[in-house]
Amino acid sequence: MTDLRTPAVIVNFKAYSEVEGDKALRLAQTCQEVAERTGVGIGVCPPATAIAKIASAVDVPVFAQHVDPCKPGAATGRLTAQLLRGAGAAGTLINHSERRLRLADIGAAVDMCRSNQLTTVVCTDTASTSAAAASLRPDLIAVEPPELIGGDISVTDAQPEVIENTVTAVRRIDDGIKVLCGAGIKTGRDVKRAVELGAYGVLLASGVVKAADPVAVLADLVQYL
Ligand code: G3P
Repeated sequence: MTDLRTPAVIVNFKAYSEVEGDKALRLAQTCQEVAERTGVGIGVCPPATAIAKIASAVDVPVFAQHVDPCKPGAATGRLTAQLLRGAGAAGTLINHSERRLRLADIGAAVDMCRSNQLTTVVCTDTASTSAAAASLRPDLIAVEPPELIGGDISVTDAQPEVIENTVTAVRRIDDGIKVLCGAGIKTGRDVKRAVELGAYGVLLASGVVKAADPVAVLADLVQYL
């Protein structure tokens, strides 16, 4: 299932202390080792400060955690699609639950990313918001119930209907858009269940970033893909 544009597993590093400094690069290299060994597409999503360094050091696709729907110019503190592309990013999350945007801004961000050859992953929280996001034609949609994010109960156990309903709603609009799910995903069993429910893959964070042994966790995660 190796697909560099649309990896089946995306690891969001967030801003955890576990990825400060060179630790982000080491985690990205770990993801690359497991991707190469297993043939499963794994994307990494480091903090913006580490994108350029990581993108020049690994072959797995590097995603930003956020992009601003801004044109190049006087936009202090913003991350434009052009800046991300220049840093070596392959794509970006948009509208993560911890970095929400208005619908119009999500649409503008998707368009700007498309013009800059960046793969877009729009995050949503329900089947209805996923349908709205699908109408903007991103490459992927990642549905994540916010209340389960960072917890120990997987969305695949707690709210499997959100995944099934999202897949149905998105396919109705554009069956070329791949659906990921996330929130509380920790194990290969969770990933297997996600795929059984119709998802293409998963977006996850704490299960890998905070793991004592990320190699073992990643190997377990991708074993059924
Ligand atoms: O971006 C992934 C995320 O929000 C899910 O986080 O820690 O529940 O895997 P986590």
